[in-house]
Amino acid sequence: MDISRYLEQKREEVDRFLETIIPTVETAPTTLHESMRYSLFAGGKRIRPILAIAAAEAVGAPSRAILPVASSLELIHTYSLIHDDLPAMDNDDYRRGKLTNHKVYGEAMAILAGDALLTLAFELCSRRDLLNGLDALRQVQIIHELAQGAGNLGMVGGQVLDIQAENKEINLSTLQAIHAHKTGMLIRAAVRMGAIVSAATAAQLEHLTLYAEDAGLAFQIADDVLNVIGTREELGKNANTDAQRGKKTYPTFYGVEGARTLAAQCTDRAISRLQTFDAKADPLRELARYITARRN
Ligand code: IPE
Ligand code: IPE
Ligand code: MG
Ligand code: MG
Repeated sequence: MDISRYLEQKREEVDRFLETIIPTVETAPTTLHESMRYSLFAGGKRIRPILAIAAAEAVGAPSRAILPVASSLELIHTYSLIHDDLPAMDNDDYRRGKLTNHKVYGEAMAILAGDALLTLAFELCSRRDLLNGLDALRQVQIIHELAQGAGNLGMVGGQVLDIQAENKEINLSTLQAIHAHKTGMLIRAAVRMGAIVSAATAAQLEHLTLYAEDAGLAFQIADDVLNVIGTREELGKNANTDAQRGKKTYPTFYGVEGARTLAAQCTDRAISRLQTFDAKADPLRELARYITARRN
């Protein structure tokens, strides 16, 4: 299969859907909506929504509910990036090829745009009109997955560990915990939410969860490697910032080549988790490869 075509097609679908649920810049409070749209439509890869869609496809023919469910992940992810870039956190000036949200709209508006995107994600998943292809029980399960992936024991918890590890001598197991939470948990939620949309069996959900955990680790190791070897033009964000901020990453422990090898092993392991799935899981298999091969 042609993964770049698949990525492009799904990205367009997600973007078209997001357009329909985000208020226009004419809607009051106009600055808030402008700031939310600025980051949301700045050109993200939409990997988390696409993983949710691909997981739903791997299990069966997804219902129409998959687009709002998948898109909610991008709202959470974009909020996490806006807050991650704030001066109190990573203090970054560029994101998705543009100035960071707070550089354009100021810190207060960036914080509030993030808050609003986070809240909107839950509003979206709780809408009965958009998720009417799903029974109410599965809808609640999906909302629960999103909360767990994003919250104190998920992405936010990982961000806390990441901040606390700055300029410290951390060991490998701490680094693994940081990655498993700050990036891993939302990717895990994405795959599980997609699987639940397609009414996955307990066994399918378990295999897909293991796939997501390996793919999520591969994703963050690749991000660490790109931070060392990428350029701002390629990445759309400043490079080499981890070293500047005293962050220990996979390349710190293993070197760039060692980290790449580990990412490739995670990818292989992720793919091996899909043995019981047929060709409908090919997009998931290709996505795992793309995650480590990507240049941004
Ligand atoms: C970057 O995520 C931040 C991490 C969690 C590693 P992505 O690489 O998915 O960023 P976008 O969404 O394409 O900008
Ligand atoms: C971002 O991690 C993770 C989240 C926003 C949850 P990083 O801080 O390592 O990623 P970049 O380099 O800013 O994209
Ligand atoms: Mg960070
Ligand atoms: Mg950062």
